[in-house]
Amino acid sequence: MQARKVALSLLPLLLLFSTAIGSPGQEFWITIGKETLDSSMKQIGLAHFNVEKAVGDAALVKINEEALPALSKLMHHEFKRCGGYFRHNSYEDALETLALNRSVPHTINKEFVDYSINSQLLVKSIIQNVRAVSIEGMIRQLANFKNRYYKSKHGINAANWVADFWRNLAKERSDTKVELFEHSQSPQPSVILTIKGRSDELIIIGGHLDSIAGWWNRSNAKSPGADDNASGIATMTEVIRVLLQRDFVPEKTIKFIAYAAEEVGLIGSQDIARFYSDNSEVVAGVLQLDMTNYKGSDSLDIVLISDYTNAIQNEFLGKLITTYLDGVKWEYDKCGYACSDHSSWTKVGYPASFPFESKKRDMNGNIHTARDTIDVSDGNALHAAKFAQLAVAFVVELDR
Ligand code: BES
Ligand code: ZN
Repeated sequence: MQARKVALSLLPLLLLFSTAIGSPGQEFWITIGKETLDSSMKQIGLAHFNVEKAVGDAALVKINEEALPALSKLMHHEFKRCGGYFRHNSYEDALETLALNRSVPHTINKEFVDYSINSQLLVKSIIQNVRAVSIEGMIRQLANFKNRYYKSKHGINAANWVADFWRNLAKERSDTKVELFEHSQSPQPSVILTIKGRSDELIIIGGHLDSIAGWWNRSNAKSPGADDNASGIATMTEVIRVLLQRDFVPEKTIKFIAYAAEEVGLIGSQDIARFYSDNSEVVAGVLQLDMTNYKGSDSLDIVLISDYTNAIQNEFLGKLITTYLDGVKWEYDKCGYACSDHSSWTKVGYPASFPFESKKRDMNGNIHTARDTIDVSDGNALHAAKFAQLAVAFVVELDR
């Protein structure tokens, strides 16, 4: 406590002399929790830390590269985490992190999530079991419902069908459960499969189960939604299948959520994200799978949507692709608006990412019509399989 007071009282002084601190090496921007900063300054030396500003529980600090090894070591020993601070590529990037950090105090993202990659053997052995044909089969079954419109009996049947399918996959595991999450604004429920971990901290994989097409009488319109978004639900299902097949027992609690009523304004995911936030749930990370099986003409495989998502977690996903998905090319792109359920989580302050199937300008033109069938994706799910592998890597690496 004393050290904290000293550090904070020195803050204006540090700001004043920030440019005067002579430092030979290169300088980096980091964001760091205030508690850890105080102790680090004390132990490593005030002169290495140039505190730019503090927001909420976090501070934006310019640090000399010479001090980084000492800081990493300290974080590891004292705070039992790898990193413990986040190193940014630019001042803008750091500012964005800081702004997001302010929104919800109980979210533990950024400084508090371990984004190191250290389960390579486990991840590699699980992702080799991902089967495109399993994903393809699930897409075909979901697309067989006349539609999955949130207000139609078909849409409600589809939700129950997903719940039964997941229940069957998990039937031998007493540490799992499948529940329906009912919504006041949607007769279609969301479906949640939980794999209970040692801790209550959550990792969430989600995608919407509803589909939409036509302008009137949507409850009777043909809306296969094979790409949008049977592909995402089938991708999640494959992740569940391979994790359970390998008897994966998580540290954190893993939730797979098939959201209701996304197509009519993110109804399901907004309800659920708000519920988790109101209950002060701790969420390490959220991954959205919405449209995973249309590759487009580009040589590109995966596009990380950079708006309404968490920049730090996106970088982590980029690292996962490079590490685990051989020959898979990725880039950033923007949706331009709150285009899917990830934004519901971002809105309440949880770190969410959205890996998407193609560049936006190269996107599947058949969505929201009766022509959204798997034929448009050559009748297979080879593209979606990459997303299943990425999601497995995301779960396992974030978990430990
Ligand atoms: N899957 C789409 C979102 C999408 C489409 C993302 C194309 C990237 C490229 C989603 O189901 C959808 O249609 N969203 C609506 C908005 C939503 C808030 C109703 C949309 O994009 O119009
Ligand atoms: Zn969609």
